[in-house]
Amino acid sequence: MSAVLEAVRPIEEYLVMTDAEIAERIEFARKELGSRVVILGHHYQRDDVIKHADLTGDSYQLSVMASQTEAEFIVFCGVHFMAESADILGKPAQRVILPDLGAGCSMADMATIEQVEDAWEQLREIGVLKNKVAPITYMNSSAAIKAFCGRNEGVVCTSSNAVPLFDVYLQNYDKMFFFPDQHLGRNTGAKFGIPLDKMVLWNPHEELGGNSEEELHEAKLILWRGHCSVHGRFKPWHVDRIRKQVPDVKVLVHPECMREVVEISDLDGSTSFIIKTVENAPSGSKWAIGTEVNLVNRLAQRFPDKEIHLLAPDLCMCATMYRIAPQNLAWAMENILEGNVVNEIVVEDETKHFAAVALERMINFTEKNQKK
Ligand code: 13P
Ligand code: SF4
Repeated sequence: MSAVLEAVRPIEEYLVMTDAEIAERIEFARKELGSRVVILGHHYQRDDVIKHADLTGDSYQLSVMASQTEAEFIVFCGVHFMAESADILGKPAQRVILPDLGAGCSMADMATIEQVEDAWEQLREIGVLKNKVAPITYMNSSAAIKAFCGRNEGVVCTSSNAVPLFDVYLQNYDKMFFFPDQHLGRNTGAKFGIPLDKMVLWNPHEELGGNSEEELHEAKLILWRGHCSVHGRFKPWHVDRIRKQVPDVKVLVHPECMREVVEISDLDGSTSFIIKTVENAPSGSKWAIGTEVNLVNRLAQRFPDKEIHLLAPDLCMCATMYRIAPQNLAWAMENILEGNVVNEIVVEDETKHFAAVALERMINFTEKNQKK
């Protein structure tokens, strides 16, 4: 390929290029940009994108990587809330790029800052906030909700550190209000023995979230009514079916799956936990994994000596992650080469400040906890 690139072209032109040309263009731009750019890739990204990533990880690891890189441009092959977190944690001069702005997260969209602030006011009006209530948000949420938690003594968590963070918050607060994934919240609460009737569901479309004042005063955990459209598809009958089909199989699922699935599975844990569990499993062991298809397929390719099944074939692709195609990556990278920053993710200053408070609380706590 010639070292002189043509002027920036519309994304449509990339859609008709061959896969080989696209891959070549990405690699060419990467070499030309050198250390000025870092490509981060979430484990759920498709193979033809992840192969170009400089660094891969789960949502926690990627947020730490974003806070540590010196690159001028962070090209985030993940979803919108992850790119926002990179902008919050990155250095002021760094530019964060999401190659397709349509790569959102349906779970994150299930809680808006207006709904969360309204819910908090309703809790104040009925006197629940006279107790110590900590707002905790899953990483899969908007920067504005992270900032709300930062302002109100709360924190961000991911599926990899939810247990130790719940532990410390349950010891120091009377109650927790957890957004937006009811399943991660419920599964983590259950690990601490919180009974189901003390974990109430907040429906943002109903007065008091659909609860009585008494239920909210009695609750230990208030769970926002949100869920992941990928992990939410796994059902208990998938677990029963695979156990009949594959004798001795171990069922390993992500805690974004519903409680009824998690409680009959053998193991549950974050994306990193799933990877480590398979890495450390003996040769010949059999696994049915309930998480995103790209990750499970890559594990199956990496470990041909282990029998790896998808818990529910055909059901588990994250369609929004999939929107980041190599064509979008090539387009974003060549634009950087041309001096154009396309699809930049910029969090406004005040939100950034308070969201950083909640994210840094999480990172500092997790790093201390890992050293113990
Ligand atoms: P983790 O990367 O934290 O496991 O999160 C899973 C997920 O759904 C990302 O969107
Ligand atoms: Fe959102 Fe679920 Fe996709 Fe993760 S897997 S980005 S939670 S929709």
